[in-house]
Amino acid sequence: MKKCEQLYEGKAKKVFLTEDPDILIVDYKDDATAFNGEKKGTIVGKGAINNRMANYIFKQLEKEGVPTHLVEELSDRETAVKRVSIIPLEVIVRNVAAGSFSKRLGISEGTPFEEPTIEFSYKNDELGDPLINDYFARALNLATWEEIEIIKKYAFKINEVLKAFFLKADLKLVDFKIEFGRYHDTIILADEISPDTCRLWDVHTNEKLDKDRFRRDLGNVEEAYNEVMKRLGLN
Ligand code: TMP
Repeated sequence: MKKCEQLYEGKAKKVFLTEDPDILIVDYKDDATAFNGEKKGTIVGKGAINNRMANYIFKQLEKEGVPTHLVEELSDRETAVKRVSIIPLEVIVRNVAAGSFSKRLGISEGTPFEEPTIEFSYKNDELGDPLINDYFARALNLATWEEIEIIKKYAFKINEVLKAFFLKADLKLVDFKIEFGRYHDTIILADEISPDTCRLWDVHTNEKLDKDRFRRDLGNVEEAYNEVMKRLGLN
């Protein structure tokens, strides 16, 4: 597959056109940002880790009946994906209180929920990705009711698959963010699932092994990403 002109450069990935109008190539960077790009840095090796981990997870999800944009891993940082039109919703599933949930609602980080919960943010950097509900998503015409129902169904299914997957590596899936896209007439999982987009805590010690180490200046950021890969047997 041949990389053609660059279509877009995001905070963590570059996206290139190919000769096939239905296929793009994503190229994962080591760049890290937080707080809507206010904090910037580099996590050495992150691009290769996120590429491999996201592709591995997407393959597992496909086996479990969740359609994804994955076509083929091309190199340590590059993957061919289906060209979707991204639905501008950040879909967040949580199993345990943390981050903005804890802050907004005054619940201590680490408090488990009786059942998983879901929320949507409007993917809009200028507005700082504001929290919305599904009626707002309709009001903004971001998705149809039918699409919102499919997204919720896939999001909870993904949570079940990922919880079990990470638990085998002694990792607690606290929460994660996913994005979906429209591909012809279907909704498929797009973007990535990686330590950039999940909170992963050691099941025994609750040590943070994800991007919160970068966001909160906790140190040992690269070590945490490598530890997750090692535990998953992906290094
Ligand atoms: P939050 O608690 O800060 O809302 O984050 C919830 C989850 O979403 C957490 O796993 C980190 C992930 N996330 C992203 O992937 N991108 C983002 O821009 C934000 C704010 C969170």
